[in-house]
Amino acid sequence: MTDLMNRQILLRRRPQGLLQPGDTEAVTAPAPEIADGEALVRNTYLGIDAAVRTWLNDQRGYLPPVQLGEVIRAAGVGEVIASRCDAYAVGDVVTTLSGFQELVVVRDDLYTTVIPGVVDQLAMLSVYGATGATAYFGMTDIGKPRGGETVVVSAAAGATGSLAGQIAKLHGARVVGIAGGPKKCEVVVNEFGFDSCIDYQAGDVPGQLKEHCPQRIDVYFDNVGGPILDAVMGRLAPKARIALCGVISSYLTGEHPGPANYVNLLAKSALMQGFNTLDQWGRFEEAFASLKRWESEGKLVHREHIFDGVESSVDALNGLFTGANIGKTVVRISDPTPV
Ligand SMILES: NC(=O)c1ccc[n+]([C@@H]2O[C@H](COP(=O)([O-])OP(=O)(O)OC[C@H]3O[C@@H](n4cnc5c(N)ncnc54)[C@H](OP(=O)(O)O)[C@@H]3O)[C@@H](O)[C@H]2O)c1
Repeated sequence: MTDLMNRQILLRRRPQGLLQPGDTEAVTAPAPEIADGEALVRNTYLGIDAAVRTWLNDQRGYLPPVQLGEVIRAAGVGEVIASRCDAYAVGDVVTTLSGFQELVVVRDDLYTTVIPGVVDQLAMLSVYGATGATAYFGMTDIGKPRGGETVVVSAAAGATGSLAGQIAKLHGARVVGIAGGPKKCEVVVNEFGFDSCIDYQAGDVPGQLKEHCPQRIDVYFDNVGGPILDAVMGRLAPKARIALCGVISSYLTGEHPGPANYVNLLAKSALMQGFNTLDQWGRFEEAFASLKRWESEGKLVHREHIFDGVESSVDALNGLFTGANIGKTVVRISDPTPV
């Protein structure tokens, strides 16, 4: 391993808004030496999640903030290339906290999981990873859509939203997406099979919701918060359910203004519930069994938006906030070993 190098992206300054040049630095370090109990993983793909941006703020969340000088934290998939740890053998495919880098040292802990059998490493980061589980648990545990109900999903062309809407369709609901721009709305309807899609960038979201949801809204799967959440709350049906999945409209500032229309929860006897998918870790196989069945029956499609090379990770992360992506944002670090 002596001539092997590790390209890494370090956090140099806490970003204000989108990441700017100077917030990060690309460096090349020698491959780390592994000690007893450790293994070395060559990363193949990084999954770019909105949570990564929240870890760059100096605020404690469910994981501590990334410190200045550290590699930016991100989940990923990779292949074990050296091991001094009984839990991992050379050639194993693992999901782990890979970080914005080419190589990562792992230990036998809860962050690293061996994926048995032949796997589609890209799909492990989208439909058969935390993204798929998030869409599944948010929609089935909290949204609980029933036949004939109207379900609205924001960030509908994104990784989580595109799957959440399809899951609601599979439960017999009428599904309306909300996405930015006509091109995304076209994909939401024609590729992901939603019944219709609102372009929030065209303005008048309350008016568009009235037009697209004449029977009001029974379920809202919220990925964005902010003014879109307020508009949806203004059009709830009695006994509506809101699955609070994410608040991407306020991650760049870290300030979360509350919903102005929350009194409608009272007026409509509605439920709004947040969730963290990692709390359902022990049930992931249940989610994947359903998702695999639907995909094999041709009823569920997933799409990945691929950036190339570790240095594209920063653009990939910014792209979640500028709306660059359709489907799951992934960075290809190296090609998986052919199987
Ligand atoms: N609760 C959990 O356990 C959990 C787990 C994973 C993810 N999440 C949350 O799920 C949400 C979606 O994450 P993802 O990884 O699937 O990302 P994604 O939807 O693939 O990408 C983010 C999308 O958000 C939209 N967006 C960005 N800023 C916006 C704004 N100000 N207003 C409206 N839309 C905006 C953009 O689409 P447009 O072009 O359409 O604007 C963008 O493509 C995030 O809030 C994330 O934090 C929650």
